[in-house]
Parts: sequence; structure tokens; C-alpha cells
Amino acid sequence: MSENSIDANVENDFRDPNGEYIPISVEGLRSGSSTDVDLFAKLGDGYFVVKPRRLEVGARLIQRFRNEGTPHVFIRKSDRQIYFAKLESNLSKLVSSPSVPMREKAGVITDYAVEIIDQLFSDPGNPRTISSAKNLTQECVRFIGSNHHAFLHLVELSNHDQYTYAHSVGVAAYTIALAPQIMDVDPQTLSDMGLAALMHDIGKCMVDPSVINKKGPLNEDEWAQMKKHPEYGAEIIRRHRNLSPIVALTAEGHHENLVGSGYPHGLVASRIDPLVRIVCMADAFSALTTKRSYSTPRDNITALKLIRENLDKKFDPSLFKPFVKLFLEPQKQAA
Ligand SMILES: [Fe+2]
Ligand SMILES: [Fe+2]
Repeated sequence: MSENSIDANVENDFRDPNGEYIPISVEGLRSGSSTDVDLFAKLGDGYFVVKPRRLEVGARLIQRFRNEGTPHVFIRKSDRQIYFAKLESNLSKLVSSPSVPMREKAGVITDYAVEIIDQLFSDPGNPRTISSAKNLTQECVRFIGSNHHAFLHLVELSNHDQYTYAHSVGVAAYTIALAPQIMDVDPQTLSDMGLAALMHDIGKCMVDPSVINKKGPLNEDEWAQMKKHPEYGAEIIRRHRNLSPIVALTAEGHHENLVGSGYPHGLVASRIDPLVRIVCMADAFSALTTKRSYSTPRDNITALKLIRENLDKKFDPSLFKPFVKLFLEPQKQAA
């Protein structure tokens, strides 16, 4: 395989900037955040009200969406602030509530994550967004720590049409799930690692969108531009003085390889922080398994095989078994 074939390197599309509506997950609807907004369904090119504001969302409506195979409904972009402010204020209570089903928690976290990622990429210097991103990763740590397979719910629900969101949530979820299997890690460090994973590709917001959105292989010039995103990312992150150093280190180091053939610095294994190596594996796996507009995602087994072929060259071999174990049933792990 070519050196770059398992890099997350080409696609980074955002929400339609001219669109009037934004998608939210059906699975997160019962949490009360939608009471103050109209909800719409999309039919062809049109949007139709399915729940007017001030009405609660009933279980029957959610079941209908599920039966129809509708993963998302929509809110007006002008209602975005109201919706996400309410969602943010409810998030902690919701994640810790034993009576809320796992899929509903994952749906709400995913919606919040998509919003935060959108804000991060469009205004990466805003301290308010960084504070929301910290809040998000703390809740992800609690959620993923609550159940062996919780991270899979997040990955599954974040299988968003737009690669950036799905990939960023995926890398954060895999990182938060994997790190405690490798080392003793306190909740604060785990949360910092989640934030590092969420922001690892933030430097792509400085690369020409025509390069980012190109549907196909990059030429030499375009590739040279793309290779700058780790340093751009580190620069953006270092402007925020209150972040753990691991966040910038991860942005800068997530395309380095153990044998020194990566970029931007060609660091060898001993110079790549063990925490960064965890995000590297999560990044590659997410890139392989996440849907892109021009290619079919690999299934988990194929993706794991591709990573295994690159152990010692790109990835830390000691991470592989614990990573595979994340996907096994708990009883099989114990066997
Ligand atoms: Fe990535
Ligand atoms: Fe990257």
C-alpha cells in the first residue's frame, strides 16, 4: 500500500454555509432541547414542519422516524443558538442520568459535537468555543467510561454525511476508549486527550478549501499545502494559553511515523509522545472507516488489517491488541 493510503488527508467539508437548516439526530430528540424550536423533515429539496415549537416531542414521533429510517431531522439555522444553548445546559444531567437510554445520550452528544466542531473550524480562536469543546470532551469521557461499548454508539451516530464531523467525533471516541486500556490515565488527562483528538485536524481550516475539498488524489503542490495542516493546527492551538500541551503536540504530531517518514518533522518513535501515538492510531482507523462522498468506507476488520500491516512503520505495535479488544464482547476479552 502507498504511504499515504491510510492517512486522513483529503476531505474536509462543512455544513452547507448557505443552507437554512441544520440536521440534528433523531436519537437525541427526547431530551427537551427541541421544545423551543420548530422541527423539520426533508422531503426532496423541501423542508416540512413535523413538530411546531412549544410542543414536546413524543415517543411515537421518534418511533415513526426510526421506522422510516430517518436518522436526522432539521432545525432552522436561525434557531441554532437557542437549541444548542439548551442542549449544553442539559448535557451533564442527561449524560449522568441512569434512566436515559444509551442511544439517546449518544445522539445528544453527537449533535453537540457536530455544533462544536463546526464552530471550532469556522472560528478556532474563540475562547468560548474552546470552553464548550472542553465541556464536550468531559462529557464524552463520562459517557465512554460508563459502558464498554458506549464509544461505538458515538461512532455509529456520528456517521454524518460530512466527513469532518464524523471523523473528529470518531477520533475523539476511539482515543478516549483506548487510552485507559494502555495506561493509568486520570479523568483530566483523558479529557485533554479527547480535546486533542477532537482538534487534531483543526489546521485544515488554514488550507485552501479547493485542496481540502478535492475529490481525488492531490498533486504535488496540493499535497505540500495539505502537509502544513499539523503545524497550522499547533499554531492555532498554542494561541489558547489555558490548554494542556498535549493538545498542540497532537495536532503537530499526528502524521508522524515511528520510522521517521512522517510529516512535518520526520520524528522517530522516541520523539513521538506516547499519548500522541494513541491519537495516531485512532485517526487512521477513523479515516479508513468513515464515509466520504467519493469512496466507500472500509469495514472494521479490513481497517484493522491495514493498520496491522503498518505496525512498526507507522503505528506503535503495543497499541494494536488493546485497540482490537475495544470491539470484542467483554466476556470474550476475559476468555
Ligand atoms: Fe485526521
Ligand atoms: Fe491530519
